[in-house]
Amino acid sequence: MTRIAVIPGDGIGIEVTREAVETLRLVAERSGRPIRFDMFPWGADHYLKTGETLPAGSLERLAAYDAILLGALGDPRVPDMRHAADILLGIRFGLDLYVNYRPVRLLDDRLCPLKGRTVQDVDFVVFRENTEGLYVGMGGIFKKGTPDEIAIQEDVNTRKGVERIIRHAFEYARRAGRRRVLMADKSNALTYGHDLWQRTFRELAAAYPDLEASHLYVDALTMQLVKDPSQFEVIVTCNMFGDILTDLGAQLQGGMGLAASANLHPGRTGLFEPVHGSAPKYAGQDIANPMGAVLSAALLLETVDRVDEAGRIETAVRACIRDGATTRDLGGTLGTRAVGGEIRRRLRT
Ligand code: IPM
Ligand code: MN
Repeated sequence: MTRIAVIPGDGIGIEVTREAVETLRLVAERSGRPIRFDMFPWGADHYLKTGETLPAGSLERLAAYDAILLGALGDPRVPDMRHAADILLGIRFGLDLYVNYRPVRLLDDRLCPLKGRTVQDVDFVVFRENTEGLYVGMGGIFKKGTPDEIAIQEDVNTRKGVERIIRHAFEYARRAGRRRVLMADKSNALTYGHDLWQRTFRELAAAYPDLEASHLYVDALTMQLVKDPSQFEVIVTCNMFGDILTDLGAQLQGGMGLAASANLHPGRTGLFEPVHGSAPKYAGQDIANPMGAVLSAALLLETVDRVDEAGRIETAVRACIRDGATTRDLGGTLGTRAVGGEIRRRLRT
């Protein structure tokens, strides 16, 4: 029995999560390996009604599950995104999910925005450090609202934090039969924090002589990703750069609607979510692409040792894309529910 905590969240998060959960239900029913879902209503509505973002004791409750599936958070009624930061970053930091695993894989030649590129050219993974960097929320504002205002946002890089994500990238490369690991930083300008990345990467690279380790400054990497994405297999980088690079990566694979991600701490409960946000302007209209959420559910299955079922989901999504059974963002005419239905129809056959 696999136990999954589901946090649909806000906006289109609710719609795409419904499709992901129904898809998981079907897969479980067909394989005879049960999954139990418990729903958690956290999000903007809950916050506005109760003042509560991530309720006390939530982390302990979540840690008791095999995995957490999240839709998206963000709602125009909460302009400062307070609840989103508390819930999403609260879980990432609170459960110490230091690996943000974001595969960038083109599933169909027709979806690539780059001229002449095929599925062979876009197939890499990004490991984004997920518990440090500019995201830790250390800093402050002084003399707010005056002409002398000062805003400080600290960039926190620890030896332990940098080392564990880089090590994870090398270990993954070995396991997955990849040869090239690239670290991206901005050590030419961020001469303390990213000097630590440089030194740590060089040390670890020496411990993995079977792998090809290389480095690019992050600005050069963004250029190379567009110029020739086939150069890359495994990319490891800090929290902020990983956030930016994976939006670029999402487009390379066909758009935000397709990108999947996992927040992991090996051996512990992981959090799985599409890379896209809650897209308030598309919410409630049955037009959001559920594939990013469904593929995130497949990543979830992979992580809980249900690799075959994950593969079946991916095959079904790929078949939908091939057949044009897609939402408008991918050139189709179907709604969110219908695409979910088409994925499940292919899983039944
Ligand atoms: C992401 C999102 C989040 C992030 C936001 C919502 C805080 O953009 O998961 O990529 O920056 O990590
Ligand atoms: Mn992002």
